[in-house]
Amino acid sequence: MNETVTSENANFEHVAVLQQEVLDLLIVKPGPLKVIDGTVGYGGHSSLILKKNAEAVLLGIDRDSEALAAAKKVLSFAGARIHLVKDSFSNLGACAAGLGWHSVDAMLLDLGVSSPQIDNPKRGFSYRLNGPLDMRMDGQSRETACRILNTYPYDGLERIFREYGEIIKSRKLAEEIVARRGKTPWMYTSELAELCNSIPGVSRRGGPPAPSLCFQALRIEVNKELVELTRALEDGVRLLAKGGRIAVISFHSLEDRIVKQYFKKMASSCLCPPGLPICMCGHKASLKIITKKPVEATEDEINRNRRAAPSKLRVAEKI
Ligand SMILES: C[S@@+](CC[C@H](N)C(=O)[O-])C[C@H]1O[C@@H](n2cnc3c(N)ncnc32)[C@H](O)[C@@H]1O
Repeated sequence: MNETVTSENANFEHVAVLQQEVLDLLIVKPGPLKVIDGTVGYGGHSSLILKKNAEAVLLGIDRDSEALAAAKKVLSFAGARIHLVKDSFSNLGACAAGLGWHSVDAMLLDLGVSSPQIDNPKRGFSYRLNGPLDMRMDGQSRETACRILNTYPYDGLERIFREYGEIIKSRKLAEEIVARRGKTPWMYTSELAELCNSIPGVSRRGGPPAPSLCFQALRIEVNKELVELTRALEDGVRLLAKGGRIAVISFHSLEDRIVKQYFKKMASSCLCPPGLPICMCGHKASLKIITKKPVEATEDEINRNRRAAPSKLRVAEKI
């Protein structure tokens, strides 16, 4: 492939990661295909899919109306082969039913946030840019990072930082957040980044910077990212036609673990605890794992797009 797809809106662009790898592993059959891109974003992957298979029809879902507006332009070449819906991918079964689709041949989830979301200070995703503590992918949803920091009890904050940020000093961080809001409410990303940097040992030596872990944890909570992923995997695998494939690109270990374990479970022919003489569970394998190990970005891709560095692609096929 010679062309690297970038999708632009007013000031920002998003470069789709693992482009060739997604095409090679997900779009493996010729002829008419029904495809769901659950994270259509700026239309990069969808555009490649629709170009590779000229008979594919694609349902693109995203929570973010700005992304959908950009995707609409980028994908206009596909005419009636493209359907765009503003929704959460945990609702992909209902979105597919809305088109009268009862099964699909391919499904992609490219998790997390896009570059235009991160690079827009008003969205509050970046600890490097000052802006409101928002972090919503869907600008119409109620929960914001600001509301969480100003209203969650100490225990709730501590759990988020420990579980979603894997932060060593989660207690100290939660304590400081609660103490400060008694005097001034939390409002801006720079204030939170400053606090993270002021507490020694929030991150592991050589690991990601402290504010990066804290912002990741809050973003996961604001957007209920792990719950969304678990539901989408269940619905998605149910919806796949025999021989259909699901591809998931994740950017941090918590997401990747969920995908890996779910694929493993659905590829097992028995879920009984070890030691039982005969199978009692009656579980049947419904997936074949295509990527024994996750596919990662090449050095060349990382040199062109450093945001591809943590990406991990896992693919499975319905049997
Ligand atoms: C990494 S970007 C996808 C980029 C896209 N593959 C492309 O090539 O332009 C992730 C996108 O998924 C969306 N997203 C994340 N979680 C979502 C969810 N639970 N439901 C729907 N969209 C979601 C984000 O709003 C963002 O636009």
